[in-house]
Amino acid sequence: MERYIVKGGAPLVGEVGISGAKNAALPILAASILTDETVTIDNLPDVRDVNVLIDAIAELGANITRTGRHTVKINCSNITSICADNEYIKRMRASYYLLGSLLGKYKRAEVSIPGGCNLGTRAIDQHIKGFKLLGAKVGIDYGKIIAGAEELVGRHIFFDMVSVGATINIMLAATLAKGTTIMENVAKEPHIVDVANMLNSMGANIKGAGTDVIRIKGVEKLHGTEYSVIPDQIEAGTFMCAAAVTKGDILVKNVIPKHLEAITAKLYEIGCSVEEYDDAVRVIGLGKLNGTQIKTLVYPGFPTDMQPQMTVTLATAKGTSTVIESIFDNRFKYADELTRMGANIKVEGGNIAVVEGVETLKGAEVNALDLRAGAALVLAGLGADGYTIVDDIHYIQRGYEDFPQKLTKLGGNIAVVQNDRDIKKFKFKTA
Ligand code: EPU
Repeated sequence: MERYIVKGGAPLVGEVGISGAKNAALPILAASILTDETVTIDNLPDVRDVNVLIDAIAELGANITRTGRHTVKINCSNITSICADNEYIKRMRASYYLLGSLLGKYKRAEVSIPGGCNLGTRAIDQHIKGFKLLGAKVGIDYGKIIAGAEELVGRHIFFDMVSVGATINIMLAATLAKGTTIMENVAKEPHIVDVANMLNSMGANIKGAGTDVIRIKGVEKLHGTEYSVIPDQIEAGTFMCAAAVTKGDILVKNVIPKHLEAITAKLYEIGCSVEEYDDAVRVIGLGKLNGTQIKTLVYPGFPTDMQPQMTVTLATAKGTSTVIESIFDNRFKYADELTRMGANIKVEGGNIAVVEGVETLKGAEVNALDLRAGAALVLAGLGADGYTIVDDIHYIQRGYEDFPQKLTKLGGNIAVVQNDRDIKKFKFKTA
């Protein structure tokens, strides 16, 4: 089984290019189902979740050509199946976007109940509520969600809570519905705007994405498009924290600085130097940082997907920090792993972590329990004394393109190892 081995202590210095946003790419791929014409999608990150979704769309009968590592051409005029339930799709969260797209186009969809990283209960009641309001019947049969409708008709939908997935999914389903759908209390994340822009470039009529209310006038059909996915806000934030944790100096390139403001503000507040350029951000970790308070919130608040990386940053900051997770109910499982590395973290009530900064972390063998926690543990290893082995790196590979390669280019000591012999070789090389 593949693992990462990391030798800590080297400040990460240099430039890193950020890939396309996974959480925008996934619904954008699903949106290509909504037209019979060819859609070209560029700047796709080459990560496992994206590749699994591309394969699942191909299994439905779509004609997909990869014209480059980050570009696909998708033609869905010959879709023969509305059922997605293969082994891999079962394990990912974003499979639910196939529901919205298949239901929108074919008025019927059968998709495995979504899996994904285990961050606590991850209900999809708001997706189902939205589909039902548009006129669909939705049921569950043998591990699959089955949705069907004679026709979809635009309605006024007020979400009980803000959900990224439900906002996008109803947008996908309502684009070809009759009449107007008004969605209130929607998510405002950059990838919501990106999906709306992509759909509009296919002829959809969506207004208000990025605000609390989205209005969708249903259209009869959509046409092909060429679309480039926005840069990944969370990958960018992860490298920004890498500069802070390793006391390094990283120019994070190909980003939209506006999307990073919550992260930029926190890093600045704890004592990093942060410079913003048109499409880049430079972070310098200036020695000992200060502790702070963080609460994860929906955009434009501090993103939950940056919570573990920021907690690792605070593990060696001065004084006491408090991190409150308000989006997911079980996103601190990695605290035990970090404790093995010498961090002083107490999790109270499942969603509040109190972090007493320690002088330095120490290498250990740890488990990547989910995608972002896994990336955070790699950062911890890069800032720690000695060697860290990170197990279960398949989680990290779900969402970070070329993670070890990008870190190595910045001067980090990290390698993928298969066995004890590889570990010995790495230690010999980096001794
Ligand atoms: N929720 C409900 N009912 C619903 C939908 C959500 O109760 O119908 C709850 C969830 O249980 C959760 C909260 O609302 O507690 C937020 O869920 P949301 O729907 O916003 O998140 P998601 O669509 O499941 C996406 C990303 C996550 C990211 C969150 C929040 C994808 C594939 N996943 O998940 O990304 O953390 O939004 O921004 O886009 C990651 O990339 O590592 C990741 C976990």
